[in-house]
Amino acid sequence: MKKILVINGPNLNMLGLREPALYGAQNFEALQAFIRSSAEALGLQVELFQSNHEGVIVDKIQAAYGVFDGILINPAAYTHTSVAILDALKAVALPTAEVHLTDISTREDFRKFSFVSLYAQKTICGKGFDGYKEGLEFLAQL
Ligand code: DQA
Repeated sequence: MKKILVINGPNLNMLGLREPALYGAQNFEALQAFIRSSAEALGLQVELFQSNHEGVIVDKIQAAYGVFDGILINPAAYTHTSVAILDALKAVALPTAEVHLTDISTREDFRKFSFVSLYAQKTICGKGFDGYKEGLEFLAQL
């Protein structure tokens, strides 16, 4: 069974409370339950990880080497700023899908560029929770 590490970055733990007009009314626990059931349906084993700290996310990506078969990541705000997360993904070189709840290409200019997209083999934007399912499907079929 393939093992996928699912990483959610800063403020995603605030889903439900956080700008619901953009991110929806469902909370982070609902997202995690959705990811778990999507993974189960695809026959994937998942570990769910969330952190508000860039270095902690870098440590988790490094530790994924030799343990996981792929990474699904919503780097949240670090998408647009973090060379360190990009470099960690390139270092472990695991198949990686990037997901965003919103469509970052139609929001503020500063959200239009993603460092993680320079490595990720697939990027899914603007599909809400379903984007995580699509990311898992992509990693399952590789
Ligand atoms: C996000 C988009 C980012 O620009 C933002 O900083 C987030 C969430 C999304 O899922 O749409 O925190 O990654």
